[in-house]
Amino acid sequence: MSGSAPDLQRKPPGAAAALQPPVPVAVVGCGDVAGHYYQALAALPEVAIAGVFDQDQRRLETFVERHRTTPFESLDAVMAHNDVVVVINLVSATRHAGVTKVALEHGKHVYSEKPLASTYAAAADLAGFARRRSLKLGAAPATWLGPSPAAVRATLSSGEVGPIRVVYAHADHGRPDRWHPRPEEIFAVGPILDVGVYALALLTVIHGPVRRVSAVGARLLTKRSPQATLDRDDFTAASLNLHDGTLVLLTCNFYVDGTRTGQQGIEFDGDHGSLFLSSWAATNASVSIVTENGPPRSIVATIRHTSVLTGVWA
Ligand SMILES: NC(=O)c1ccc[n+]([C@@H]2O[C@H](COP(=O)([O-])OP(=O)(O)OC[C@H]3O[C@@H](n4cnc5c(N)ncnc54)[C@H](O)[C@@H]3O)[C@@H](O)[C@H]2O)c1
Repeated sequence: MSGSAPDLQRKPPGAAAALQPPVPVAVVGCGDVAGHYYQALAALPEVAIAGVFDQDQRRLETFVERHRTTPFESLDAVMAHNDVVVVINLVSATRHAGVTKVALEHGKHVYSEKPLASTYAAAADLAGFARRRSLKLGAAPATWLGPSPAAVRATLSSGEVGPIRVVYAHADHGRPDRWHPRPEEIFAVGPILDVGVYALALLTVIHGPVRRVSAVGARLLTKRSPQATLDRDDFTAASLNLHDGTLVLLTCNFYVDGTRTGQQGIEFDGDHGSLFLSSWAATNASVSIVTENGPPRSIVATIRHTSVLTGVWA
């Protein structure tokens, strides 16, 4: 691998012309999710990919070969590259805060996969640091920006189902050890920070911050395989009071696969009806409504702009 600073990569043929010069980004972390990001970023005219880095040399080489992209030789090299304006932080979930802090210290804007950090204090520290340096700091999940969550927000704002008093949200994510090459990293953060955050992001955008929580956790199945053992809760049930008074009942776990059982999605219950978003994980999930004035019907989510990020992101 070359130790020299990578050149900014050209857009693939057919990419639309950008109105402004593309923003140079570096992708840090070349694991399971990175390919999706890379393809999406490479298609955006607003972005130029300066290069990628992973601390695992073999994974870095495989990724570079597959995507015909440019490696950085170290995290220091990413930070020292003056052209890199934004760091896309896709490292293992427990390592996000460390990489984000280094990037901010080097004057880079950061978009981080979730969770931003493993504790509230660490996340608040990053947010405060970025604010003081006038740097942008963003974090997944971004699914709530998609067409279906937008349709939910518009319908709730229309008042058709009346004021919402109760929400049932199920982030029942099944068994990550059955599909992820490194499930121990997912188990290390637990179901709330891995998947509960998708529902929480949308719900707090709509109803405001969480004011009170009571929750129970449990360890349902700790021995997953010879390689993967859980040493923390794989099931959480929480009741949350949000800022506007809405009561949320949230379940998150690594045991029940909600995509197979139907125990998945978010139900908003109001004085005059209910609205159902079939998945917290998808930007294009189906949305349906039932009111006291008529039979159930589907709501068509209108895509206001084309986004290569549309799809399932959990
Ligand atoms: N896999 C998915 O489908 C998926 C979907 C949505 C979100 N995410 C999120 O994306 C993040 C990454 O997930 P993943 O599934 O790709 O994990 P992964 O374990 O497959 O990949 C993480 C990569 O980060 C690298 N890494 C760890 N620390 C590093 C450091 N300090 N510097 C450079 N590289 C480092 C590891 O070597 C590894 O290759 C997680 O936060 C996860 O929650 C994953």
